Amino acid sequence: MTAIKVHGFSMAYDDTGGALPPLVLLHGFPLDRTLWAVQVRDLAEVARVIAPDLRGLGESGLPGGAVTLDDYADDARALLDALGIKTAVIAGLSMGGYIAFAFYRKYAHRVRALILADTRAGEDSAEGKRGRDANIALAQTQGVSAVAENMFPKMLTPQTVSQNVTLASATRGMMNRQSVAGVVAALAAMRDRLDATPLLAEITVPTLILVGAEDAVTPPSQAELMRDAIRGSRLVTLAGAAHLSNLDQPAEFNQAVREFLRTVA
Ligand code: MLT
Repeated sequence: MTAIKVHGFSMAYDDTGGALPPLVLLHGFPLDRTLWAVQVRDLAEVARVIAPDLRGLGESGLPGGAVTLDDYADDARALLDALGIKTAVIAGLSMGGYIAFAFYRKYAHRVRALILADTRAGEDSAEGKRGRDANIALAQTQGVSAVAENMFPKMLTPQTVSQNVTLASATRGMMNRQSVAGVVAALAAMRDRLDATPLLAEITVPTLILVGAEDAVTPPSQAELMRDAIRGSRLVTLAGAAHLSNLDQPAEFNQAVREFLRTVA
């Protein structure tokens, strides 16, 4: 693990280094950079893979005060600055995708291409916002595991859970070990995020959209909306995958990313 000081906290990240084109992987909620362990390992032959822990999650610190999606995007930009990287392919899964939109809104000139995995452009509905508040209260009164256990059934397919016990328990462990403060901050940041739908028509960089065919959190219909609105984008729907499609179908996920990176190079 490597860490740097950005914006008053220590940001942990993996970096495969080298001179290949940079690919930044932004994880989802309530997760950390170990979500990307297989991508960091297998994509290192085609990219310099950089996977940070977002502030408050994984091994990254949490400075005081509320957190916005712009803060996460600013942290990613600060990491690029610290590593001397001008432009990168920005990839995000779910909440990581929301951050990729925030990053593009502020720093489009730093984005070589976008990869949007199991995410959506729209903001939370009124009901969705109430759900965030309920989850904040749940985390504060019963701990992160109460939130994690409610979400876990939607993360991986039932097949993965029954056939890959090691992966299922590692994923559950990743969710359960997050801190209350980091989880509460992320829930509030997602609740208050801007609608990225108007941004879609302004995206001019090559864009790959990935979605698990069985994703019930950010379903294929959301991915199709993004595909229809982002000019020239490509959508890959992964069979046998739920919300964490990179874990359910790592080989197919990585193959789609590899092919996309070849077209971007
Ligand atoms: C995620 O996987 O990052 C979250 O479930 C996304 C969300 O809750 O909107």
